[in-house]
Amino acid sequence: MKLLVTGGAGFIGSNFILYIMQQYPDYQIVNMDSLTYAGNLENLKSVEGNPNYTFVQADIADKQAVDAIFQQGVDVVVNFAAESHVDRSILEPEIFVNTNVLGTQVLLDASKNYGVTKFVQVSTDEVYGTLGETGLFSETTLLAPNSPYSASKAGGDLLVRAYHETFGLPVNITRCSNNYGPYQFPEKLIPLIISRALNDESLPIYGDGLNIRDWLYVEDHCSAIDLVIHQGKIGEVYNIGGNNERTNLHIVTTILEELGKPESLITFVADRPGHDRRYGIDPSKITNELGWKPRHNFETGIKETIRWYLNHKDWWTRIQSGAYREYMTQQYGKRLGEPE
Ligand code: NAD
Ligand code: TYD
Repeated sequence: MKLLVTGGAGFIGSNFILYIMQQYPDYQIVNMDSLTYAGNLENLKSVEGNPNYTFVQADIADKQAVDAIFQQGVDVVVNFAAESHVDRSILEPEIFVNTNVLGTQVLLDASKNYGVTKFVQVSTDEVYGTLGETGLFSETTLLAPNSPYSASKAGGDLLVRAYHETFGLPVNITRCSNNYGPYQFPEKLIPLIISRALNDESLPIYGDGLNIRDWLYVEDHCSAIDLVIHQGKIGEVYNIGGNNERTNLHIVTTILEELGKPESLITFVADRPGHDRRYGIDPSKITNELGWKPRHNFETGIKETIRWYLNHKDWWTRIQSGAYREYMTQQYGKRLGEPE
């Protein structure tokens, strides 16, 4: 089996490549990634020399580069490549449309023209918008995205659906809740809080801190995608989530307690515009149809993750230079009362 993994140098993509190469040592993996600020080949050092692994630096919206890869033969595509951070999508929506909508369409076209056996679109629960205090997202919940990020992901999903309905392309769409674990870029809540708390820096909490996310350990997301590749019914959408709803404040105080740092580091800052209040996934379809079950619960997963960041300080301090520092000033400078 030859798998084209796009965005394989990012957080979930790199965890997925490491996971799949362990599960299926004879699979050939092509990792296509344009290496934006979020792509880091260091995550894949352990498989670099493996003859079944190839890296190609290219943009999924670059038709010629995509064609050149498909000409070498591809059985299954797993599309992780995306601009993935909501706050950045508020500052710069255009690149989100280019990658998440146009890039997805270019990949779909090549998949159709070269006849892949499956195209798996890795999407997000954020396409469903926000929940009130009750209820959960199911696969039939209407799409109602609220940020440029989630709107661009929804656009990609709709193209995937259309390529199935119009051209008969064999597809699946997965919609997972918030992931956490090793190799997550320290702009997302959990690694941001761990890294800043370790440096005794203030911890920016948007609004009242009572927004709720449904957290899943990244390896459990990888095992779900593995099942969807091999057993997912063509044309179906699968929601993925581990029933771990927590407020942001709960996440932050858990991390502080684990690190022995004071709650006085918490700083409430201006809310994110269009901030979704609550996400919660009903995972019964993937559980009942494909037998998926998460292996990690939040209490142990968060401890493992904190330990990983403690043991890999080099990894995230190297990232916190250059372009990332510029983004931090743009995003938080005013909110945390620092000079711009
Ligand atoms: P990430 O930002 O860590 O990684 C994205 C990767 O895609 C990077 O390696 C980047 O270099 C690459 N990339 C970006 N634009 C590209 C382009 N035009 N061409 C080729 N490569 C490009 O993101 P992540 O958190 O690993 O998320 C991966 C996927 O999973 C995304 O599609 C995201 O929408 C989805 N998802 C993420 C979460 C989460 O909690 N992180 C939850 C559900 C779904
Ligand atoms: P994030 O990790 O950006 O994921 P998403 O917005 O895609 O769910 O944010 C998770 C939650 O944490 C979200 O409710 C926004 C909040 N948040 C903060 O309060 N402060 C921060 O500095 C960041 C990055 C996020």
